[in-house]
Amino acid sequence: MKILITGGAGFVGSHLADKLISQGHEITVIDDLSTGRYSNIAHLEDTERFRLIIDTVLNEKLMEELIRETDHVYHMASAVGVKLIMERPVRTIETIFRGTDVVLGFCSRYRKRVLIPSTSEVYGKGASVPFKEDDDLLTGATDKHRWAYACAKTLDEFLALAHWKETRLPVVVVRLFNTVGPRQTGQYGMVVPRFVHAAIRNEPIQVHGDGTQSRCFGHVHDVVEGLTKLLDSPECFGQVINIGNSEETSIKGLADRAIALTGSTSEIQFIPYEEAYGDGFEDMRRRVPSLEKAKRLIGYQPTRSLDDIINDVANEYRNEVAAAA
Ligand SMILES: NC(=O)c1ccc[n+]([C@@H]2O[C@H](COP(=O)([O-])OP(=O)(O)OC[C@H]3O[C@@H](n4cnc5c(N)ncnc54)[C@H](O)[C@@H]3O)[C@@H](O)[C@H]2O)c1
Repeated sequence: MKILITGGAGFVGSHLADKLISQGHEITVIDDLSTGRYSNIAHLEDTERFRLIIDTVLNEKLMEELIRETDHVYHMASAVGVKLIMERPVRTIETIFRGTDVVLGFCSRYRKRVLIPSTSEVYGKGASVPFKEDDDLLTGATDKHRWAYACAKTLDEFLALAHWKETRLPVVVVRLFNTVGPRQTGQYGMVVPRFVHAAIRNEPIQVHGDGTQSRCFGHVHDVVEGLTKLLDSPECFGQVINIGNSEETSIKGLADRAIALTGSTSEIQFIPYEEAYGDGFEDMRRRVPSLEKAKRLIGYQPTRSLDDIINDVANEYRNEVAAAA
């Protein structure tokens, strides 16, 4: 099959490209390399069934051509990362909502199967975990810029489901919980690479807040497996489905684990949120997915633990450091 991956030079998109190439598909990636990296897909450039286009999903003429000639679309392009969202809220909203509007519009016109990734952020300040797909969503005030990401993604969800309702567009909406693993950069505020890289360098690990807030981390290989199964399953069309891992860890616990597994001498420093992100930042205490629906629909069952994730990220970083030496 011909498959288009928007944002395919990014973290999740590039792992998706690897998996789909290994399944024998023909892959086109469109990416503006804003947060993605050429090095994530450089190894695929020699494959005949792979094509990279460096451009934006906001280029409607190009997107129409690409979508018309493809069978399936994974729309991974997005503004991501808390730091970027706090610093560039206009770009965040425009990239997310306008990009998804373009993709869904052409997928609807040419009747193409499409996966739209949303995020666990849409659950907002909801306190009752695990989060189920039909729970109410509770985001913060509009002057707290952090919520721009969640709200733009929520609008993406509404638009995707509206296309399903009106014309039965074969679309799946996936709420990704924290997804981590090799190739994720710490540059935009992603916590696992930041902590593991600092631990390997024996530098202080900066925990924002008091570190008792918790997250669940899913290995990108488990997540990508879930994404391909979802788009291959017509019973998932018109559905919103959580994907991630439900093993919960506090952020302080994550720092401790990174230190232990890398044999580091790093100290942990606690940084107030205002200092890290400026005004307008609110955090969520817990974020645990209910994976019942994914299990029922596609038999989803993550197999990789937090330790596997930390070890994989640490090995990648050590190899990079050794290659640069
Ligand atoms: N990684 C996570 O924990 C996580 C959690 C929830 C949701 N998601 C969603 O998964 C998707 C992939 O995220 P990721 O973690 O791989 O991030 P990423 O930043 O690595 O990937 C996003 C890619 O989109 C590209 N991009 C951005 N704007 C573009 C544009 N206008 N045109 C073309 N390309 C553009 C970037 O260059 C990048 O390669 C996003 O939709 C994100 O919102 C990720």
